[in-house]
Amino acid sequence: MRVERVDPAHPYGEAIDRGARLLRAGGLVAFPTETVYGLGANALDEAAVQRIFEAKGRPRYNPLIVHVGETDLVRPLVREWPDAAARLASRFWPGPLTLVLPRTDRVSALVTAGLDTVAVRVPHHPVALALLRAAAVPVAAPSANLFTRISPTTAEHVRAGLGSAVDLILDGGPTRVGIESTVLDLSGERPRLLRPGTIEREALERIAGPIDGPPAEEVDTEQPRPSPGMVRQHYAPRGTLRLFPEAERSGMAAVARRADAAGVKVGGLLLQPLDAPFAHTVTMPADPAGYAARLYSALHEFDARNCEVILADAVPEDPRWAGVRDRLSRAANHG
Ligand code: TXA
Ligand code: MG
Repeated sequence: MRVERVDPAHPYGEAIDRGARLLRAGGLVAFPTETVYGLGANALDEAAVQRIFEAKGRPRYNPLIVHVGETDLVRPLVREWPDAAARLASRFWPGPLTLVLPRTDRVSALVTAGLDTVAVRVPHHPVALALLRAAAVPVAAPSANLFTRISPTTAEHVRAGLGSAVDLILDGGPTRVGIESTVLDLSGERPRLLRPGTIEREALERIAGPIDGPPAEEVDTEQPRPSPGMVRQHYAPRGTLRLFPEAERSGMAAVARRADAAGVKVGGLLLQPLDAPFAHTVTMPADPAGYAARLYSALHEFDARNCEVILADAVPEDPRWAGVRDRLSRAANHG
């Protein structure tokens, strides 16, 4: 495995060429997108896609997102391209929106976990776009983390989590958005939100009309699921995460003191400072975009410091916080 630094301001060069060659030859290349790092393989090469599942320890029932370098390249992958898709793509691509559409036979059943639909997006990152354009193949890429672990927002997270299972890691610096793309299913009668992200539902509805969903917060992992983002143990730190509404901050301090007295390493994921014996604290930005951008690196820090318990300030019950709330509640429901 090698790590190659790529300057997002001047992405084209030797590292991108090597990445593109590796992808065409069936290799695994991790690359930055605006959301999180992806673990990419040629979506038309069944054996290469197989390697993604092995590297991640990911069950085969979890379909992958296919990334392309421009909107037109989606067309050979989908049977239908409804008006809503065209309008959403022209507004949000390149960007953190994934569309689920009926698929053609070009997409392997392994990519889509046997579903009749495929998830597609054009990522908004110069390194991702340079790689996709140089490889000139659609690239299947889940987040570049082990199954159920925290998604990577830096190349170092990828290296620490997947290591030698990856042929090449393209390091384009920390990702800007920080949580995974919004996933919108356009294959049914009405659009359905499968995974909230940083694009507000209302912004989608202005373009695509009324949207069903969002998914239930918890779905039993044994049940059939429309979206594997709904698997309960997703986005989880190793420690146990507990959320505290603002009114219960004194209780949070008391829990921290008891844990500390019992020799348990406890972390604080805070919106404001709190006087309590935390082994590690991260004071988070108070706006949803800033919070999302920092969240996974904060959770990685608690993991690295072996925090067994993470006490977190709950975030506002506001539509702008929907993506962050979703990831926090999944992390809290872990285990
Ligand atoms: O931001 C992102 O989306 C990142 C970057 C790398 O692009 N990728 C990512 O991939 O988060 P992954 O595999 O960790 O999550 C894939 C999500 C699933 O949770 C699921 O919601 C959806 O994509 N998905 C993929 N194919 C689908 C399909 N055919 N039907 C429904 N949902 C699908
Ligand atoms: Mg993932």
